Amino acid sequence: MNNSSTHRPVRSFVRRKGRITSSQKYALENLLPKYGIQYSADLGIIPDSFLGDPESPLIIDIGFGNGELLVSVANENTQTHFVGIEVYDAGIGHCLKLIDENNLKNLKIISGDAVEVLKFGIVDASISEINLLFPDPWPKKRHHKRRIINGDFIQLISKKLMPNGLVNISTDWENYAEQIDALFSKRKDFEKKGFSERVLSTKFEERGVVLGHEIYDFCFKLISQ
Ligand SMILES: C[S@@+](CC[C@H](N)C(=O)[O-])C[C@H]1O[C@@H](n2cnc3c(N)ncnc32)[C@H](O)[C@@H]1O
Repeated sequence: MNNSSTHRPVRSFVRRKGRITSSQKYALENLLPKYGIQYSADLGIIPDSFLGDPESPLIIDIGFGNGELLVSVANENTQTHFVGIEVYDAGIGHCLKLIDENNLKNLKIISGDAVEVLKFGIVDASISEINLLFPDPWPKKRHHKRRIINGDFIQLISKKLMPNGLVNISTDWENYAEQIDALFSKRKDFEKKGFSERVLSTKFEERGVVLGHEIYDFCFKLISQ
């Protein structure tokens, strides 16, 4: 066997057969075709018509969990197009139900690996903002290589953000926050900005607070490519 057939990328998630309610399952089967797509690299570039009006700002939320914050922000900003990318079926199902209940026209869901979607599905210099709220911290040292935010990922988002585009990142893991800070401070193409308050806490933010963790919020602006 050659290297290409044995090479498996290190992913930032593990797909587990978690618990899923019958209504989340129903939403995945019936609402994903309406509000989203099941993405894999072979699908190539995602057409603008799917993502929304190319004249409007495009905000991408990576790993939106149950999608409650994403739906609430999309509801408040109907002139902006939001795309949520997740791999967690129960969360995607929950979010799809909320989109349908709120009759949202400006939020689309992609079920798939955000790294793959950005790399193969999104045109360069097209995203206004990327949100990564409480990405999986992979706390054990031997798992740090699974953390989604690493040098390659920052290089990738630098290509995909528009000039002056923003990336918002929050974590409740001190060691991950230090890593994020160190990685971005090495880059000449990003500048640190103030972070805006969230309108609602996310599930994992609440969990961090209950555990007594400090919350670290970052905003970086792409100043050149
Ligand atoms: C710790 S949870 C945070 C969820 C939510 N943002 C919150 O704050 O409650 C991280 C989420 O990122 C998702 N995730 C991890 N890697 C991903 C990837 N490469 N593409 C899409 N989603 C991913 C996981 O499935 C999980 O739901």
